[in-house]
Amino acid sequence: MEKSIEKNSGLAALFLDELKELYGAEQHQTMILPLLKKAASSLQLQSVLANHLDHTRDQITRLEEIFTILGEASQTRQSEAILSIGHEGEQVISETEKGTATRDAGLILAAQKLEHYEISAYGSLAQLARTLEYDEVLDLLETTLFEEKETDDLLTSLAENYINTAASRE
Ligand SMILES: [Fe+2]
Repeated sequence: MEKSIEKNSGLAALFLDELKELYGAEQHQTMILPLLKKAASSLQLQSVLANHLDHTRDQITRLEEIFTILGEASQTRQSEAILSIGHEGEQVISETEKGTATRDAGLILAAQKLEHYEISAYGSLAQLARTLEYDEVLDLLETTLFEEKETDDLLTSLAENYINTAASRE
């Protein structure tokens, strides 16, 4: 067990609560990402989403490692933010035409909202881990944070370099 869990009980409880929300959010994403990928036309976008689904599974394992390090059972708390972003992704699919770059642009938008939620959640959690001196936990959170930022950058470059321009011509 990490050393300072007892001496900062309020902050440690807040950390654990956020950890449960992220655990729920990552699990929900294993359902959303395949829907987005299936709806995408661009092969590059499909591949970024498929890779991110693989990352998401690793990230779930990392969160389980964190629960173990903290001596807690892995538990989820429903993330309203992810439910609502997932719903937006479904709306993009129902409101755009299959096979269009406009749909892909909308899918990127939804996927980036997911990433931005995760970047802020993991970033804040990493900061709490730093304060709580959860060194091992911090390393795991930073590995995931790096992957989330990388995915976000890939989505940005896809939008900038190809998809948004193609969509503007439709
Ligand atoms: Fe993630």
